[in-house]
Amino acid sequence: MWLPGGCASTVLTSLGCRSFRSCVRVLARRACNTAAFMPEAAGFEGASSRAALQDFSVSSSDSFWSAVARHRLSWIRPFHTVQDCDLSRGRIKWFEGGKLNVSVNCLDRHVHTCPERVALIWERDEPGSEVKVTYRQLLEMTCRMGNLLRRHGVRRGDCVTIYMPSCPLAVASMLACARIGAAHNVVFAGFSAVALSERIRDAQSSVVITVNQGVRGGKVTELKRTVDTAVQSCPTVRQVFVAMRTENPVVMTARDVAMEEEMLKEDVVCEPAAMDSEDTLFLLYTSGSTGKPKGLVHTQAGYLLFAALTHRYVFNYHDGDVFGCVADIGWITGHSYSVYGPLANGGTTVLFESTPTYPDPGRYWEMVQRLKINQFYGAPTAIRLLLKYGDQWVHKYDRSTLKTLGSVGEPINTEAWEWYYSVVGDRRCPVVDTWWQTETGGICIAPRPSDPDAEIVPGMAMRPFFGIKPVLMDTEGKVETSNNTSGALCIAQPWPGMARTIHNNHQRFTETYCHPYPGYFFTGDGAYRSEEGYYQITGRLDDVINVSGHRIGTAEIEDIVNQCSAVAESAVIGYSHDIKGQGVYAFVVLKKIAEVQDSDLSRQLNDMVAKKIAKYACPDCIQIVQRLPKTRSGKIMRRVLRKIVERELDGLGDLSTLDDPASVREIIQGHSDLL
Ligand code: WT7
Repeated sequence: MWLPGGCASTVLTSLGCRSFRSCVRVLARRACNTAAFMPEAAGFEGASSRAALQDFSVSSSDSFWSAVARHRLSWIRPFHTVQDCDLSRGRIKWFEGGKLNVSVNCLDRHVHTCPERVALIWERDEPGSEVKVTYRQLLEMTCRMGNLLRRHGVRRGDCVTIYMPSCPLAVASMLACARIGAAHNVVFAGFSAVALSERIRDAQSSVVITVNQGVRGGKVTELKRTVDTAVQSCPTVRQVFVAMRTENPVVMTARDVAMEEEMLKEDVVCEPAAMDSEDTLFLLYTSGSTGKPKGLVHTQAGYLLFAALTHRYVFNYHDGDVFGCVADIGWITGHSYSVYGPLANGGTTVLFESTPTYPDPGRYWEMVQRLKINQFYGAPTAIRLLLKYGDQWVHKYDRSTLKTLGSVGEPINTEAWEWYYSVVGDRRCPVVDTWWQTETGGICIAPRPSDPDAEIVPGMAMRPFFGIKPVLMDTEGKVETSNNTSGALCIAQPWPGMARTIHNNHQRFTETYCHPYPGYFFTGDGAYRSEEGYYQITGRLDDVINVSGHRIGTAEIEDIVNQCSAVAESAVIGYSHDIKGQGVYAFVVLKKIAEVQDSDLSRQLNDMVAKKIAKYACPDCIQIVQRLPKTRSGKIMRRVLRKIVERELDGLGDLSTLDDPASVREIIQGHSDLL
C-alpha cells in the first residue's frame, strides 16, 4: 500500500515539548489545581476541585461546553449559540453559527507545529511489519484523496461508503471526506455483500472505497469481490476506488479506479470546505430491535469535541503517548478512539489489523512492548479468551510503558477485570470500563476523569463524564432518586457528541430514543446505581444482543433464519457465553413437509446468516421445536425462552397468558436433550 515518502519509520521529534509537558503534569498533580488539569476551567467560578468541575459541567453546561469548544477546536468562524436542543422532540443542535473543518483540526494544525510527529502506527497482520505515518504524510494522503474524490464528482453533502480494514488509506479516506464536506459511511469489512449493499443503498452513496484484499489472522479475504457483488444491486454507485493491500491483482471494471495510482496524480494541497457545526460528518449503521439497521448521523463540531475530550481525560492521554485502541474502524470505537479523538489531540494512534491470537495469544502484549503503547483499549471478549491461554503469554513481554487499560463494548466480568488489572497491568494501571454506544458518539460513563487515586470498583463503569447526567427510570417512568437501585438508563440533558438523527428516518430516532421517557435520551440499557452512587451497566432492555462486543438485533437474525425453505418460524435470543459474552440461540419450527437433517439445517442456517449479515451473527445453538411459546395474541414470549436457556426454571413467571402451556414443557425437555 502506497504511502507518501515511502514507509520509512519516523521518530517522534517533539521530545522538547514533551518534557515541558510532563513538568506541567507533575505540578498539576501536586497542586490539584483544576486549571492545570483543564486549562479552560480557569474561568469557571467555583470549579476549584475536579468534583466541582464535574458539577459545573452539568449545572452550567453551556458555559462549560462553550469554553471547551473555543479552547480545543480551531474555528473558521466562531459559533454564536452554544446549544439549541429539545430532547422531547429530538432536536439537537450544538455550536450553531460556527464554521470549521474536521480534517484541519485533525491534521493541519498539528502539521503546523509538529509535522514529523507520528500520527498513525499501522500494526499490520504480520507482527513486526508496522508502518508509521507522520502528520505531514497523513495530510498529504488526505489532500490527494480529497482532490481525487472531487475530481470524480463527489460534492459537499454526498455520502461515500468505505469498506476497508483498519489502515492508513482508510483513515485518509475518512478525513478526505471531512475535508471536502462529504459524509462517510464506514461499513465493517466483516459484513457480507448483502449487508454492505443494504447500507450503500440506504446511504445513497455514489462512491465506494475498498481494498483488493484484506489480510487478517494470516487469512486473505476477497473484499473487492464482495464489493463487486454488493454494487450489482446499487444503481447509485458510479465509482469504486480500489487500494492495493496485497500485491495480488484483481479484476477491474470500467467503474473501478486504481486508487494509489490516481492519488499520485493529484495535488498535495486540497482546500478544506468550511463546514457548519451541524453538517453531517458521518453515518454509521448499527442494529436496533427491528430487522433494519439504522444509519446514525453524527455531525462535525460536537462529535469531534466530545471524542477529543473523552480521549484526553478518560484515558489520561498526554502528548507523546502512544494510544493503542484495537477496535476496527468499522465500529464507533474505531471512529472515536482510533481516528478522531487521538488525531484531534495531535496524538499517535495504532491501527490494528490483526486478531488477539495471531500468530499466538501473546500478540497484544508483544505489540505493547514493540510499539511502547501507553494506553491499551480493548474488548472484554478478547480478555476472556486470552486469560484462558494462561499468564505466560503476558509475562513474556515488557508492559512497563502501559499507564491505562480500557475496556469497551460489553460488561467486563470480575474474573476478566482482575486478570486485566493484575496480570496485564501488574496492578499498576487503572482499568477504565467505559460505557457508551454508537448513539452517544463517545464515552459517557467511566471511572475517569477524576482524581487519579479515586476508587475503581471492578466491573463498574463508575462515574459520568463531564457534561453527562445519567438517570435511572423506574417501571412507572419516574426518575429513581435513591441509590442502591436499578432502572432504565437515560441521560437527562443533551451533550455535544450525541447522534442527531437516523439517516432518512427522524421519526424512528425520536420513537426509539426520545419518546420512551419524554425529555430524556433513552439508551436501551439497564443500570444499577450503588450506595456510593457508582453506575454498573446490567445489559440491554430491548431485543438487541451483544456477541463478542458486536451489537446485533435478534430480529435481524430471525429474518434470515425464516428465509430458509425448511423453516416455518423462529425465535432468536442471546444467552450467556463464556468467551463471547452472549451467544446466539435459535429456536426453529420446521415446516410440516420439511425433511432435513439437523446437521444440514445447521449448515444451511449458518451459511445464510454469514452470507446475509456476517459470521459473528451465526447461531451457536439451534433447537428444533414443535411450536414456540406465544401469547393468545400471537406474540412470542422470549422472556420464557431466555429463562429456559439460562436454566432458571423457577423464574418462568406467569405462564397463564400462554396460548399453549404444553409448548414450554416440550422446549425444556428439548433443551435438556441438547446439553
Ligand atoms: C451497547 C452499544 C461503546 C462502543 C462499542 C459498542 C453495550 C458498551 C459497555 C460497557 C456494559 C456496554 C451496551 C450498549 N456496552 N459498553 N462498558 N459495559 N455494556 O457500541 O455497538 O453501539 O453497542 O454495547 O449494551 O448499549 P455499540
